[in-house]
Amino acid sequence: MRVVHSIAELRALLSAQPLRGFVPTMGNLHDGHLALVHQARGLVGPQGAVVASIFVNRLQFAPHEDFDRYPRTLARDCELLEGAGCDVVFAPDERELYPEPQGYKVTPPPELADILEGHFRPGFFTGVCTVVHKLFNIVQPSHAVFGKKDYQQLMVLRRMVDQMALPIAVHGGETCRSAEGLALSSRNGYLSEAEKAEALRLSRTLKALIARWQAGERDLGRLEADAMQALRDAGWQPDYLTLRCQRDLSPAVDGQPLVALAAAKLGNTRLIDNLEV
Ligand code: PAJ
Repeated sequence: MRVVHSIAELRALLSAQPLRGFVPTMGNLHDGHLALVHQARGLVGPQGAVVASIFVNRLQFAPHEDFDRYPRTLARDCELLEGAGCDVVFAPDERELYPEPQGYKVTPPPELADILEGHFRPGFFTGVCTVVHKLFNIVQPSHAVFGKKDYQQLMVLRRMVDQMALPIAVHGGETCRSAEGLALSSRNGYLSEAEKAEALRLSRTLKALIARWQAGERDLGRLEADAMQALRDAGWQPDYLTLRCQRDLSPAVDGQPLVALAAAKLGNTRLIDNLEV
């Protein structure tokens, strides 16, 4: 496995291998990220190149968010990636990726990017689309893999690739969970032991919401308000907890494939999760 820090070096290294599978990350890797690397390998086969990027993208963090304290663990990440069969790690520093302020940005359409995560994190998806578009131009992958853990992000990026006619096949990877059901996340590292146990409530509350819908309840406002209240009663500060159509994240209607999504703060840590119905 090669670890490269410059765009020029990466391009030179990849020039002989046109079939590339790409997994963008912000590092501090866990089994969820590594599953995406395995998925990328499956897509390009033994001859193709599997590329992972590690870059904590300042553009997608608001000033009050955790950019500065986001865990940076490059040496360990590279060991894990090597073990997962990754061929190339692209780990640029900020001067390499943003040598001057990134004035050109990719702004996703508001109907998809200003709801849910985008409502509570204004500018987040512009930051994500801008860096992923730039990374796509640098890596020029045939396939890119993103986790369903960040369900709306996957949808926003799929649409970007589609609308910009980028020649890249986008794939979604299933959410990797702990044995108890907690969705793996780099931010779980911020949780105390007690909070880790409590964090399981997020997916349980999503399940309870889905169960009531499946039992025939159709007062969506009531279902969502009850679920949010259950989190508040347990000391959480929920941003949203909602049942949506998988297709476009519009409010749930009968007969459509649905997904329940939530974001909530437990102590100082903001967690997100979702479950497809
Ligand atoms: P990061 O949070 O590091 O996640 C990198 C990729 O791993 C994303 O596609 C994310 O959805 C996926 N992922 C995270 N947790 C997962 C889990 N438990 N199971 C499966 N996949 C999981 O998402 C980002 O970084 C950034 O926004 C990025 C796309 C790299 C742009 O900066």
